[in-house]
Amino acid sequence: MERIDKLLSSTGRWSRREVRQLIKEGRVLADGVPAAAPEQKLDPAVSCLRVDGEEVMIRAYTYVMMNKPAGVLSATEDPRQRTVLDLLPPAFRRQGLFPVGRLDKDSEGLLLLSNDGALAHRLLSPKNHVDKVYYIRTDRPLTPEDQAAFAQGITLADGTACLPAGLELLGAGDEALVTLHEGKFHQIKRMTASRGAAVCRLKRISMGTLVLDESLKPGEFRLLSGQEVSKIGGKL
Ligand code: URA
Repeated sequence: MERIDKLLSSTGRWSRREVRQLIKEGRVLADGVPAAAPEQKLDPAVSCLRVDGEEVMIRAYTYVMMNKPAGVLSATEDPRQRTVLDLLPPAFRRQGLFPVGRLDKDSEGLLLLSNDGALAHRLLSPKNHVDKVYYIRTDRPLTPEDQAAFAQGITLADGTACLPAGLELLGAGDEALVTLHEGKFHQIKRMTASRGAAVCRLKRISMGTLVLDESLKPGEFRLLSGQEVSKIGGKL
């Protein structure tokens, strides 16, 4: 059993204060009856909550897809720099969300934020081999030789061995799609550097079945759909 104000604010759509106001105005129905107070408790697995007549889906966990902009840290907090959590409204920030997998400060694109620790563990565990696809732009056209080196598995300057990775050349070759089956620190930049090229732009497009919603502008976010949640193995 959970308090109604906690359940409704957990959707990220309203703050606790807004929920209190909605309840006062009689706009929240719990199993068809106007909610009496914010502290009224109910079991979200069996009860139906409506706001202004619309059923509100209550999930055990929150899953947010963000189009991370460049220049923001993939962290929950930082004393000096802006983090991806700073881009979310307070109602989301209170839910203990954290980035599931990191992107470098200057990288962009798909970032999943959640408070489902078990899912994060499954998605990030090397033994689960969740593929990640990145769009990159480089300072020189990449070649079929670079492609063969990626496919074979690059050994970085410090001796770190990378698993074979996909490199699909686009256009004139200074753009490409890279598919990684693991996630080492600065991996694409370092793999590309080992081929004597530099990454000028890096944007994550997908992570397993989860694909960046291209209608999200940099810095924008949305909740995952029920289908997206179940496909990545989250809890509905
Ligand atoms: N590889 C990188 O070098 N940077 C990222 O942000 C992601 C993959």
